[in-house]
Amino acid sequence: MCGIIGYIGDKRPEKILIEGLKKLEYRGYDSAGIALFNNEVQIIKSLGKISNLEDKINNTDLIDSNIGIAHTRWATHGEPSEVNAHPHRIGHITLVHNGIIENAKELKEDLQEKGVKFNTNTDTEVIAGLIDYYYKGNTKEAIEKAIKDLKGSYALAIINDEEDKLYAVRCESPLILGIGDNEYFVTSDIGAILPYTNKYVLLGKDEIVTLTKNDYVIEKDDIKVYREVEESTLTLEDTSLNGYDHYMMKEINEEPVLVDNLVKKYINNLDKLPDLSKYKNIHIVGCGSAYYAGMIGKNLFEDDGIKVECDVASEYRYRNIVYDKDTLVILISQSGETADTIAAMRKANGDQVDTLAIVNVESSTIERECTYSVLIEAGKEIAVATTKAFILQVLILSLLSYKINQDDKYIEDIKKLPQQLKVLLDKTGYYKKLADSIYKHEDVFFIGRKIDYAISMEGSLKLKEVSYIHSDSYQAGELKHGTISLVKEGTIVFAIVTDDEIRDKTISNLEEVISRGAKPIYVGNVDVDYEDKIVIPRVHKKLQPILAVPPLQMIAYFVALKRGCDIDKPKNLAKSVTVE
Ligand code: G6P
Repeated sequence: MCGIIGYIGDKRPEKILIEGLKKLEYRGYDSAGIALFNNEVQIIKSLGKISNLEDKINNTDLIDSNIGIAHTRWATHGEPSEVNAHPHRIGHITLVHNGIIENAKELKEDLQEKGVKFNTNTDTEVIAGLIDYYYKGNTKEAIEKAIKDLKGSYALAIINDEEDKLYAVRCESPLILGIGDNEYFVTSDIGAILPYTNKYVLLGKDEIVTLTKNDYVIEKDDIKVYREVEESTLTLEDTSLNGYDHYMMKEINEEPVLVDNLVKKYINNLDKLPDLSKYKNIHIVGCGSAYYAGMIGKNLFEDDGIKVECDVASEYRYRNIVYDKDTLVILISQSGETADTIAAMRKANGDQVDTLAIVNVESSTIERECTYSVLIEAGKEIAVATTKAFILQVLILSLLSYKINQDDKYIEDIKKLPQQLKVLLDKTGYYKKLADSIYKHEDVFFIGRKIDYAISMEGSLKLKEVSYIHSDSYQAGELKHGTISLVKEGTIVFAIVTDDEIRDKTISNLEEVISRGAKPIYVGNVDVDYEDKIVIPRVHKKLQPILAVPPLQMIAYFVALKRGCDIDKPKNLAKSVTVE
């Protein structure tokens, strides 16, 4: 994973790089580092968040430079430590890396035999060693040779201490070239450079960009590549907190408006959405919350009479799947860059099966490579725990399902959603009260059946990822085959009950745990007698999850707040998982 940024221009780079890293922190945050260059290379690294690096930089005499590279890390090879933090330097070459080199061990042994000395266990240092080994006066040539030896994924920003230049290259991991006035940037994400420019160029696989203060050239295998300059519509406001204490809360509160926008865009223009009725089989694939959105989609499309399977991408990519004719594979991903989901997509594309991307980030790998794509238009999502993107993924799945089987009640209800969401989100006092009763617990369970089970999985994930409370979700009927033995006096059990067809069954299962001491929290669309309950409006079945999940997001937020957790950047996680 990790985030990288590089700068070359008239300004001093340190502030630009630090501010940029803060915007990239969602990509990993166990250590960070910066390298500045002016005749000599100055490297500063620190463990932990970017603020630690910033403090260190503020207390260091910096060289006067106009070229710099920086990195925020999510450890893959080598524990999080200052020495393993990027940038890494061998000989003339200093670089930062996002990705993972699978043949690092062999390359390292080979280089060691040739006399190259290494200081760390990182795969990144091996790349620096390799480029330096090939460097005989022409850096671009050395990079070209080195990347031919690399197996895996990389986005690299590279400095050679013999030149006032910046180099960059990518394969699998994202990297864009930002075009400013007499200054250039390379970065994993446009959000990191928005204060300076919204103009950017997408770099293709193994295209090497050489940057000087006044110019840039992109080359692949010695041939110049011309790529269009694009303009991002993202604004600085999208990346600011706008008065909220956390991005997670800001993003949850954006849900009503974003839902309204998408509804308005599609409800009378269903022809803008792909027609799924022509497929006999649908496979839905994603990771984390995107997978749970997929599980909701599975329930929707099955009700439409289509055979559906849903799997996590890390499993799907390695399964032996014999695709039937008329199969569509739907890839759900906020970032459009999740390594396993990309691999799953390429597996289906390789088998000539139609693929549909449901993604947030335009021009991301998944968006570009799928046969069809629908953007969820969530705007920038910064909190590591996804909230608004999940809701919009579900909304798109719901609209796709409605397109297969249309009825008037759906149209009536979908128009009410934004207002209903707003009312639900405004009940913060109640969510805080529930959070007060939850935050000291060490185990929380969620139960539901069918679509309610899918909802419960997302509720449970949200709670555990931001509050670090152990939480699990179970099919309500399965609980008594083992997990019920964990239920004791006071155990909190959330029951999700929105599906009328199986309401009574889930309620019976809830009663089973209550009679063993559990404290229930009911989330459903029919008012009940339980003390702790979130009663959501009754809407069309295909829309019900869009109202059931936001209260669970709110509760997770307030529990994490009570426990003093780092809500937007939970430990060990990263927003964009670009490694396997
Ligand atoms: C990470 C994030 C999750 C996200 C998952 C899939 O684990 O922390 O919030 O659901 O990746 O990411 P994607 O960008 O593919 O939706």
